[in-house]
Amino acid sequence: MKAVTYQGRHNIKVKEMKDASLLRRDDIVIRVTTTAICGSDLHLYNGELRQMTDDYIIGHEPMGIVEEIGPEVSKVKKGDRVVIPFVVSCGKCLYCLNQLESQCDYANDARDTGGFFGYSSAFGGFQGAQAELLRVPYGNFMPFVIPPSAEIEDEKLLMLSDALPTALWSVENAGVRPGDTVVVLGCGPIGLLTQKFAWLKGAERVIAIDHVDYRLEHAKRTNLVETYNFESIKEIEGYIREITKGGARVVIDCVGLDAKRKGLEMVGTLMMVQGGSLGAFRMAAGMVRKFGTIQLTGIYGLKYNAFPLGQLFERNITLKMGLAPVTHYIPVIYQMLKDGIIDPSDIITHRLPIDKAPHAYDIFNERKDGCIKVLLKP
Ligand SMILES: NC(=O)c1ccc[n+]([C@@H]2O[C@H](COP(=O)([O-])OP(=O)(O)OC[C@H]3O[C@@H](n4cnc5c(N)ncnc54)[C@H](O)[C@@H]3O)[C@@H](O)[C@H]2O)c1
Ligand SMILES: [Zn+2]
Ligand SMILES: [Zn+2]
Repeated sequence: MKAVTYQGRHNIKVKEMKDASLLRRDDIVIRVTTTAICGSDLHLYNGELRQMTDDYIIGHEPMGIVEEIGPEVSKVKKGDRVVIPFVVSCGKCLYCLNQLESQCDYANDARDTGGFFGYSSAFGGFQGAQAELLRVPYGNFMPFVIPPSAEIEDEKLLMLSDALPTALWSVENAGVRPGDTVVVLGCGPIGLLTQKFAWLKGAERVIAIDHVDYRLEHAKRTNLVETYNFESIKEIEGYIREITKGGARVVIDCVGLDAKRKGLEMVGTLMMVQGGSLGAFRMAAGMVRKFGTIQLTGIYGLKYNAFPLGQLFERNITLKMGLAPVTHYIPVIYQMLKDGIIDPSDIITHRLPIDKAPHAYDIFNERKDGCIKVLLKP
């Protein structure tokens, strides 16, 4: 089968790999019809996960047609059209039973975290979804079967695997409520969808921040949010506190460790090299109001020095974070798609055959050609 493989920093290759196959009795294999590149794949692409090895198949946003089923699978049959969540979840452990599927106890033998497709041995060792075929474990829990009567295109349904539920979880986990002022850092796919859900939760004011002008324009045009380019404002934190009269009640960081503004940071009177960027987090800390909440959806994966704990403590800030437990959101958001309550189509800017993956990663990472979200067709 053809698959997108990691070959080191900024180097991916579409290669012929061994076909995905059933390994356990409750596995299924799907023929991927549409997949996509996520901001999380850029962390791999930029060489930020040292456990990645050459020839690892990447990608974690799958949908397709069931091709093979293990002898213990009864939830799906061959030929079903399915969406698969990016989090590997068993459906039976304490976490899965409590809708906390992103920390499934059985999905990752290597460490005490959840398991995810296409994210190295550190996250369960599951091969990725940017391929013609994908092995999906826990076939009686993971797949969401799209009702045959559904007249919704692949493009919208694919967003159920990660981007849409991650965005909805972000505003719910942050506790966004009617009347709130919400700042969303980042206008990539996750930030843009988070802005939509913030309005749906009744926010009174939604402010979007980025430094890429075409993405800010997209946010303003499609989500009707206030937008600010942090590079053209002298001290963005102070500016946001001023225009919100003390800060936003909720700040949602949809950026993570790749934030612009890396490198040296002041610690006391010392200049220190910060292990990983806290750029977006620092912005959030400077924009949230007293007793407010910071939600980290953008991924952080390192140890950090110079973490401003005291600044958060003395202002009674709540800090929430993590990997989105998307599995249980899929049927909920499917209904919202069907009812026309949410539509993610506007963020899709590119549709490319899987052979063009190297080009797709390049334009997404370098913010070229107006790129926001790229779909790949195996
Ligand atoms: N928690 C989860 O379960 C989960 C799920 C999906 C994605 N993610 C993470 O969400 C983040 C966003 O994903 P995406 O697909 O939208 O990626 P993306 O890379 O397209 O978007 C990030 C955006 O942030 C902007 N940015 C950079 N520095 C900034 C700063 N200091 N302030 C404000 N904006 C800044 C970039 O210009 C870019 O537009 C990534 O870190 C991704 O790994 C997390
Ligand atoms: Zn993702
Ligand atoms: Zn589980």
